[in-house]
Amino acid sequence: MQKKALSVGMVAKRCGVSVATLHFYEDKGLIHSRRNQGNQRRYAPDVLRRVSVIKAAQKVGISLQSIKAALDTLPNQRTPNKEDWQRLSENWHQDLSDRIRYMTRLRDSLSGCIGCGCLSMTNCPIYNPDDVLGSQGDGPVILDQASKE
Ligand code: FES
Repeated sequence: MQKKALSVGMVAKRCGVSVATLHFYEDKGLIHSRRNQGNQRRYAPDVLRRVSVIKAAQKVGISLQSIKAALDTLPNQRTPNKEDWQRLSENWHQDLSDRIRYMTRLRDSLSGCIGCGCLSMTNCPIYNPDDVLGSQGDGPVILDQASKE
């Protein structure tokens, strides 16, 4: 059974994005449409999943470039199946795990010294006396080191 093609308005409404955003995603090659006889864009239903994945990935700070590289592993000529999405998620697994670890560390470190050089927290003299960590790198050295563990 041929699944009903969706108009740009239907996709925008269901995904909670603007039509301009869909045009932008299409210009960037993240999603694809075909034209009907009236030269209007029509999307296959799996575009709803693609747009939702793009939004979710952007929410956690993944770049459009990285999102495109992942979506490019999906077939364009047919609806991606479970195996296709499984392959995509395996590609992203390490990146997402690193981000989760970094965000968890950030959440848990904000009440203490992150090794940024400010020396403004009560435990900075313990963890970063006289900003000794400044010689080990720039930015929040403790946070960056911890998120690599
Ligand atoms: S939080 Fe900035 S040096 Fe400790």
